[in-house]
Amino acid sequence: MQDKALSFSSFSKPSPGSIKHVWETVSVSLVDKSYDILIGPGLLTEVGRMLKHEPIGENYFIITDSNVEDYVGIDLVSIMKNEGLNVDMLSFPAGEASKNMDTVVTLAKSLLERGADRKSAILALGGGVSGDIAGFLASIYMRGIPLAQIPTTLLAQVDSSVGGKTGVDLPEGKNLLGTFYQPRRVFADIGVLSTLSQAELRNGLAEVVKYGMIRDPQLFHLLEEKWWDIINLEPLVTAHIVKVSCAIKADVVAHDEFEGGLRRILNFGHTVGHAVEAGAGYKIPHGEAVAIGMMVISRLSVDKGLMPEKDLRRLDGLLEKLGLPRHVPSSIATEEILELTRHDKKAQGGRVHFVLSKGVGETVITDEVSSRELARAVEGSRE
Ligand SMILES: NC(=O)c1ccc[n+]([C@@H]2O[C@H](COP(=O)([O-])OP(=O)(O)OC[C@H]3O[C@@H](n4cnc5c(N)ncnc54)[C@H](O)[C@@H]3O)[C@@H](O)[C@H]2O)c1
Ligand SMILES: [Zn+2]
Repeated sequence: MQDKALSFSSFSKPSPGSIKHVWETVSVSLVDKSYDILIGPGLLTEVGRMLKHEPIGENYFIITDSNVEDYVGIDLVSIMKNEGLNVDMLSFPAGEASKNMDTVVTLAKSLLERGADRKSAILALGGGVSGDIAGFLASIYMRGIPLAQIPTTLLAQVDSSVGGKTGVDLPEGKNLLGTFYQPRRVFADIGVLSTLSQAELRNGLAEVVKYGMIRDPQLFHLLEEKWWDIINLEPLVTAHIVKVSCAIKADVVAHDEFEGGLRRILNFGHTVGHAVEAGAGYKIPHGEAVAIGMMVISRLSVDKGLMPEKDLRRLDGLLEKLGLPRHVPSSIATEEILELTRHDKKAQGGRVHFVLSKGVGETVITDEVSSRELARAVEGSRE
């Protein structure tokens, strides 16, 4: 990555008498509102100290879900109190079902009761659901108060905490209400991932594979070589893949903050993936649906003569190693996938843009995909 919009640095902080903490920084460069993503094991214990030295508010409200409150939230409160910071914590029931306006309004009222004002800051602690809800609330509470993200799932660390999209669902669909609102800082402690279920881990890994496919053959190769270390969360390699993934998303976002063009490549595997998710009544997790979507779209790319067949085999092999599915389930008819794809919410002027692949690391965007071509790729991706 040679973009000047993006810089990497790493530094270490010796901590007397104990292990040395090492973490890394990805800088997100946006007009007027650049910020850093800090990544590394043990970072959480430093959040209090860092916010004391570089405050983003006069007092802090951690917003998290009912699981993360116990796993991480209680510790974070004491870490911050130990630094003399004024901190309070609000939580909501874990799960996507909470990602709605009712939760936002309930949390907003609690903030008011507890005296949050324009000088307060919100810390969004948890997975993508916490990040989306707390980020949305921070963007509208008293017309916007400062926000930091503290992502605790792999998906949140490599995807949802970067880029500034926030939002909640309506009964009619996901993420239909939302804002673009950038955090002041992101703290990604990879140590907290150790309590994630394998299923949650796989969800995040599908997005990491996506980054390799769209932009980074080296990342893809690393995943192929070190998949075992990665699923076992070996700290150095995990920190590295989180850093590289954040850097890719940050770089894309820096070029296209409001999703006008380049940002579309982040949708690789997602148009068909969303159709698979919907076709399965949302019983297939997002990451698994994206894995299937990447296979279908890569098969389509091979059929169109864009992608070498061997790269499709590499993708298939990698997803298998990571325990991700590669086949369209027999319970979803091809016609249903076609129909759902046509109604993709990112379709513009009735045309669906497909992000196709020219091989590992390279994409091409086109709206020239016929129903027949798509149907053939879906059929070719069945078991
Ligand atoms: N804003 C964006 O750009 C963006 C991008 C991608 C996805 N998203 C959103 O992100 C959401 C999905 O995120 P998610 O997969 O992180 O879901 P999530 O926030 O529901 O987390 C998944 C589960 O893991 C638990 N959890 C979180 N951290 C944990 C930890 N360290 N140890 C053990 N359990 C932990 C949570 O309590 C939850 O039960 C969706 O709502 C999606 O729309 C947003
Ligand atoms: Zn995704």
